[in-house]
Amino acid sequence: MQVVYHDVIIVGAGLAGLRAAVEIAGKHDVAVLSKLHPLRSHSGAAQGGISAALGNAEEDSPEWHAYDTIKGSDYLADQYAVQVMCNDAPRAIIELEHLGVPFSRFSDGRIAQRPFGGHTRNFGEAPIRRTCYAADRTGHVCLHTLYEQSLRKNVSFYDEFQVLDLCRAEGAVNGVVALELKTGKLLLFHARAVVFATGGYGKAWKTTSNAFANTGDGLGIALNNSIPLEDMEFVQFHPTGLYQLGILITEAARGEGGVLRNSQGERFMERYAPSIKDLAPRDIVSRSIYEEIRQGRGAGAMKDHVFLDLTGLSREKIAEKLPEIESFARIYLGVDPAKAPIPVQPTCHYAMGGIPTDVNGRVNADAEGREVSGFWAAGEVACVSVHGANRLGSNSLLDLIVFGRRAGKDINRFLDRVCLTPLPLATNSADRAKETIDGFQAKKDGESLASVRTGLQKVMMEKVSVFRDKQGLSDAVGEISVLQKRAMSVSVSDRSENFNTELLEAIELQHMVNYSKVVAVSALQRRETRGAHSRDDYPGRDDGNWLKHSLCFLEKDGAVTHTHKPVDLSLAETRAEFVPKERKY
Ligand code: SIN
Repeated sequence: MQVVYHDVIIVGAGLAGLRAAVEIAGKHDVAVLSKLHPLRSHSGAAQGGISAALGNAEEDSPEWHAYDTIKGSDYLADQYAVQVMCNDAPRAIIELEHLGVPFSRFSDGRIAQRPFGGHTRNFGEAPIRRTCYAADRTGHVCLHTLYEQSLRKNVSFYDEFQVLDLCRAEGAVNGVVALELKTGKLLLFHARAVVFATGGYGKAWKTTSNAFANTGDGLGIALNNSIPLEDMEFVQFHPTGLYQLGILITEAARGEGGVLRNSQGERFMERYAPSIKDLAPRDIVSRSIYEEIRQGRGAGAMKDHVFLDLTGLSREKIAEKLPEIESFARIYLGVDPAKAPIPVQPTCHYAMGGIPTDVNGRVNADAEGREVSGFWAAGEVACVSVHGANRLGSNSLLDLIVFGRRAGKDINRFLDRVCLTPLPLATNSADRAKETIDGFQAKKDGESLASVRTGLQKVMMEKVSVFRDKQGLSDAVGEISVLQKRAMSVSVSDRSENFNTELLEAIELQHMVNYSKVVAVSALQRRETRGAHSRDDYPGRDDGNWLKHSLCFLEKDGAVTHTHKPVDLSLAETRAEFVPKERKY
């Protein structure tokens, strides 16, 4: 089997992966593997902006930003990690600007900032303009800029390579096994450091803002390597997905003055979050939308959605600040947002949980924080944890940039001082990947891939969604266990070697059923309501019993075991503002 060597292998070419690559390039030989062309990475779909207390629009401070992030997280975020992110944010934005990101500007030339949900001034007083943006294409321009910078710095790219497994030696990670989609060949990538920046996993839900590629491969591979996943029960539904399609309609639409209305035309968020209304954090807004629908105030014949009303904004403002949204509404629903409200419903958007890491991206193997040597994770696949039980809008791009860079810096130190030579590859490194592929191809008349995947998306949408309860979650765990077995029995009839997407989807499906089981088990065991995890049978937050992170492992037989680890409350030790309390908006 062909072996390729690079000092560092980064899996995933979104913002976290590319920011790490830019940090390492020039110091060490770094390669980025992606199952897509890098510019198709899902970071490019982030629309509304990236938060930082620059104070360009009004007075702001990283401390207020940290307060909002921690409160928004329903106090589950690790407070030191939040402090690290918020303190670094203004520098990170200026750095992006210098790298070439074409931010929108105020008339005085400074980077423009807009309001976003849950971001406030002076510890919750009123909404603040903290989110930097480039119209509603912020992720897109950041991605292009970092890709250009990566090319300028001679980062090696392996586009359309699907990573299947980690290579391990003496417990450490020393490479990956990958399938070249163009040829169907398996290759070993040998390295001294490996970074997972593989993004999120929204594709397990029927309605999602996530791209087709977001099948949580990094999470599945971690589970197969006995690496735990943290806080997987916390899955964010963005309040405004295009009705029936789930395509993202940025929160910036509300930041710029749009309001949500029910079938009676009422601005219902005034009842749920009287002080910041439509700019409440996403968990609260999504729940409020479902509450309106439950109480019969949903719109349309099915009474199953609400409206995002932008008719109060001028056509010029929509064209300047929200051009993508304008075209999405027109193309997909035939709605001119300057004239009529846009039908919207919550859509599965973002994973707060993931592979546990420290603030330098080092992967933790257990609740005690023991490291998996040679292995880093950054971005949505990782759980640092800065988002806790609910992420604030525009904190995601920030997380990618800040922690991608920190992982890169930490790897440079590791390669200079700790791992001076690569650990030899074990002879059986590719065995599991080969077995999986052979298994699929050997099966005749196996399960239909599409029917298992559709079944999974239905269960996750109906039983592991915004509102949950014991019965639904127990049923979901049982149904996913069956789907896990069926996913193993999928047959791949396509024998072609180049771009065998049937094989690729069968591999992705295995990851999807496994992490979905972890999500459902984590949600079942957390008997409280916190952030995006809303239990009808346990409606209150229970700090006495549940102010702790969940950590889940996948056993060889497909069962999920869990344990817990404490939340870092270090800021609360000296500042009353950071002590967990009831969230009011
Ligand atoms: C949005 O623009 O609403 C999405 C960006 C994010 O999730 O932070």
